Amino acid sequence: MDDRSNTIAGWVLAGGIVALGLSIVTGMYFHPEAPEKEGFAVVAEASGDAGGVAVVPIATLLATADVAKGEAVFKKCVACHTIAQGDANGIGPNLWAAMGKPHGHVAGFSYSDALKSVPGNWDWEGMDKWLANPKKYAPGTKMTFAGLGNPEERANLILYLNAQGSNLPLPPPPAADAAAPADAAGAPPAAAPAPVAAAAPAK
Ligand code: HEC
Repeated sequence: MDDRSNTIAGWVLAGGIVALGLSIVTGMYFHPEAPEKEGFAVVAEASGDAGGVAVVPIATLLATADVAKGEAVFKKCVACHTIAQGDANGIGPNLWAAMGKPHGHVAGFSYSDALKSVPGNWDWEGMDKWLANPKKYAPGTKMTFAGLGNPEERANLILYLNAQGSNLPLPPPPAADAAAPADAAGAPPAAAPAPVAAAAPAK
């Protein structure tokens, strides 16, 4: 009996040592992974925050936008807008060459104060936000249009609008696109457009 319990005690001890060894080894392997996972979580959150406004920057979408598709999207606007040069205003103003012009660009159209008081000109990002949600862009606007939820549709449409008398040069795609294709797709795009945006007005 003594021999046997010694043997059993020996195995239990050996098992304990093996278990201890395993937990140390797994500890060594698992701990280095933890910070990596946390890192990814932070990146995901960062891109989520940036995505609250625009998941993919309009400049990126414009690079692959399609004027013909934009013309088709414009059918949603023709109930209120003309766009050929010199055409009459409808419920909304004629939109010929609106891109690049101040908000409320047609002299003689009675715009809302809400839209006229938005500072600056119609640029790519402004037009994108306006078409996504007119009431958010200019609270109190007379344009009773719910907005276009699809970012690609908006990019196609804006490219079409720009081709009608404005022909502004396309914005440069965000630098992060070229520099870090897939790996850091979360953080850098959020950071990269800032220098571009900050640099543009300075020129
Ligand atoms: C129900 C009618 C209606 C529809 C549909 C509509 N708009 Fe408008 N739009 C207006 C009105 C009215 C205004 C003037 C808004 C104001 O003064 O607040 C306006 C203003 C605008 C302006 C500002 C022009 C300027 O001179 O500053 C743009 C750009 C514009 N609309 C684009 C569009 C596009 C693109 C579509 C289709 C996706 C569209 N709108 C659909 C009625 C409409």
